[in-house]
Amino acid sequence: MPLLIKNGRLVSADSDCFADLYCEAETITRIGKNLEVPPDTRIFDATGKLVFPGFIDPHTHIYLPFMGTFSKDDYTTGTKAALMGGTTTLFEMVCPSRNMSAAEGYETWRAQAEGKAACDYAYHMGVTRFDAESADQLREIVRKGTASFKVFLAYKGAFGVDDEELYHTLKLAKELGVIVCAHCENETLVAERCKELLAAGVTGPEGHYQSRPPRVEAEGVHHLCTFAELTGASVYCVHTSCEEALNEAIAARQRGVKVSVETLIQYLLIDKTYAERPGGEGMKYIMSPPLRDAKNQAVMWNALRSGLVSTVATDHAPFDYHTQKITMGKDDFTKIPNGIPALEDRINLLYTHGVKTGRMDLPTFVACASTNAAKLFGLFPRKGSLAIGADADLVIYDPDYRGKISAATQTQNLDYNAFEGWEIEGKPTVVTVRGQVAVQDGKFVGKVGRGQLLQREPNHF
Ligand code: URP
Ligand code: ZN
Ligand code: ZN
Repeated sequence: MPLLIKNGRLVSADSDCFADLYCEAETITRIGKNLEVPPDTRIFDATGKLVFPGFIDPHTHIYLPFMGTFSKDDYTTGTKAALMGGTTTLFEMVCPSRNMSAAEGYETWRAQAEGKAACDYAYHMGVTRFDAESADQLREIVRKGTASFKVFLAYKGAFGVDDEELYHTLKLAKELGVIVCAHCENETLVAERCKELLAAGVTGPEGHYQSRPPRVEAEGVHHLCTFAELTGASVYCVHTSCEEALNEAIAARQRGVKVSVETLIQYLLIDKTYAERPGGEGMKYIMSPPLRDAKNQAVMWNALRSGLVSTVATDHAPFDYHTQKITMGKDDFTKIPNGIPALEDRINLLYTHGVKTGRMDLPTFVACASTNAAKLFGLFPRKGSLAIGADADLVIYDPDYRGKISAATQTQNLDYNAFEGWEIEGKPTVVTVRGQVAVQDGKFVGKVGRGQLLQREPNHF
């Protein structure tokens, strides 16, 4: 059935106007004032509401075997949670263990999603080992439509690659025209500092920060950018948390390095004192890189506004507080499963604390929560835009909604929420995926299994 959204304020990354928007099948086909439509059209009156292109989370882990356990969401709970929060496309990191081939890794992640996703999704192909066999398999994975890689400069002995592997991964990426996402922390510094802290009797979650101070992350960014400079590859620093790391990326960009920067909603809003909370509570707030000193937050907000940081992601990595974080990490901070989930709440938090506070205007909000990711990762203008011919992924957003975040009412499969009790000022009322309504009046009404694995072409040269 065709769909008409009438009387809305249509906001994209480069425009802001009042108009009607009409969709047929899966696509936006008309935008204009007082559109005439066929009688069988489903009509939503968006008077007083904002209409955005579907939001894109460029960094999630729905399926993640990690630190001796598994993330809690699956593609059904994860994609439903995404949609409830206005995210209509998510990117998942394929993270094979080092003893898995790239092809096995890709197939494992693909099988996890098949038939289970309610929103669209795409992969960043994790390169956790690089040899002749991986190179051939990676070429084939790119040919099949996965046009980005992911490397970890951290997690020694797990996902982390050494410098030789990093160099050859970037050379291959340059040859194929794919962008390489990177977790930037110096793994040797982290490993050695962890040993020293534990030997000195520091076992609680506060040790996590001490093991990975800002310079450890800044060195990772500097390291990546040096390799990108010498190979000519395009790189994307995921989960950038602090000024020191950002400055390394800015300096590299000024030398001509093709580097883009992602931050997370968590770094913008919560700081390291959360991870220092007593009684095990701090474990809810353990992720890598760690939450930083609050002074970094203004730097990151300003960098978003000025375009130095392109995207706000979540790095959604859901591990339960009671059955995973506390039980595994109670005697040793290095065993706390890393991750602070936020997939469901990213947009409402960014709107509340970014737009409502005047830190960013509406087009910037759309750019960093949707359009920039679509552009960087080969989905634009199909995704991330309100244009004729684009997928009808739409969010009708109520800026007058007032409510509170709570684990008791969330859709993501988790026993806590890092933003428990936080007030939000705005919420999606209707969310569509390729022309079908997936959320209406705060309820999931979509179809599990309808989400598509998106095919992308390399676009970085
Ligand atoms: O702490 C984090 N970030 N957990 C997820 C894995 C990763 O490093 O992205
Ligand atoms: Zn990471
Ligand atoms: Zn991640």
